[in-house]
Amino acid sequence: MSLYESLVRPLLFRMEPERAHHMAMSLLTSGLAPKTPLPPGNEVEVFGVTFPSPVGLAAGFDKDGVALNHWKDLGFGFIEVGTVTQHAQPGNSKPRLFRLPEEKALINRMGFNNAGADALAKRLEKAAPGIPLGINIGKSKVTELEDAPEDYAYSYKLLKDWGDYFVVNVSSPNTPGLRELQDKDALTRILWRLKEIDSQKPLFVKISPDMTEGQLDDVVETSIDFGLTGIVATNTTIQRDMLPSDPNQTGGLSGAPVKSLSDQTLEYLANKADGNLTLIGVGGIMSAADAQHKLDLGASLVQLYSGFVYGGPGFAAEVTAGLRKTLPSA
Ligand SMILES: Cc1cc2nc3c(=O)[nH]c(=O)nc-3n(C[C@H](O)[C@H](O)[C@H](O)COP(=O)(O)O)c2cc1C
Repeated sequence: MSLYESLVRPLLFRMEPERAHHMAMSLLTSGLAPKTPLPPGNEVEVFGVTFPSPVGLAAGFDKDGVALNHWKDLGFGFIEVGTVTQHAQPGNSKPRLFRLPEEKALINRMGFNNAGADALAKRLEKAAPGIPLGINIGKSKVTELEDAPEDYAYSYKLLKDWGDYFVVNVSSPNTPGLRELQDKDALTRILWRLKEIDSQKPLFVKISPDMTEGQLDDVVETSIDFGLTGIVATNTTIQRDMLPSDPNQTGGLSGAPVKSLSDQTLEYLANKADGNLTLIGVGGIMSAADAQHKLDLGASLVQLYSGFVYGGPGFAAEVTAGLRKTLPSA
């Protein structure tokens, strides 16, 4: 058991989850968190970008990019900031983040609390993350669904020069109606608008683990038609059947219980896309073996969120060290 698991995690887990998150971020930005930088030898080259390792931080942990310069010190090979929206917004009322320690899981209904695209642009101007940066964009709550393309377009236009890749998030369960944007026509309208602004930037769409095979077929076809770089699979689930009892909290479930749904989605996408899309695997990675499994299923990169909350500051380095060294070299 690591020092984090035996000592720090019990202290953090005694705090209200969102407060613990802020505390962890403060420790990180003040340089007090233990540093676990990556040794060389884990590089991968994907869509023309060299990643120091294929293990990244998933969207939502550092939504506003407040700790941009510190993730490299924790051994992450890349980070994805956001979800950021055109308008700054407070998100849903608290409490909105819950732990399920027995299940190694979280439930959240944050609702894209973020300081908005303009604030992120200002931070990015001064930042030096030292690792590849993904920017995840979403729709502001105040924007009607039919006006979604312009909301995404605003953030994309403003931020496009800073991201090594961009993610169109249409899969959070916590913005009413957002997941309807995964439908072919709605997604097409958004992608059309973004490609009009810049057709060269690597662009991904992030999907939910709750889609039917028919919906997945549509997303793959639309992604290939638009020349997207790939798909991030997956976001959190609204399903609860895999839990021993229903915790009765609305929101997206992440961590160990979402692994199997995420893996099934990833496997289906890999078969359907047949090498024509780059896949980023996320959902339920709680160990190096879980990450390796996603790479074996066809992901080129993987991301951590809940596993990092449970595993602590050494988790990214631990996962990376445990991967089979069969990575395509940069
Ligand atoms: C508290 C919390 C906030 C999240 N916020 C976002 C977000 O803003 N945008 C997004 O695309 N995904 C968000 N996610 C989803 C994660 O990026 C990830 O897709 C999901 O948690 C599954 O990975 P995990 O099982 O490793 O946690 C969030 C997850 C959690 C737990």
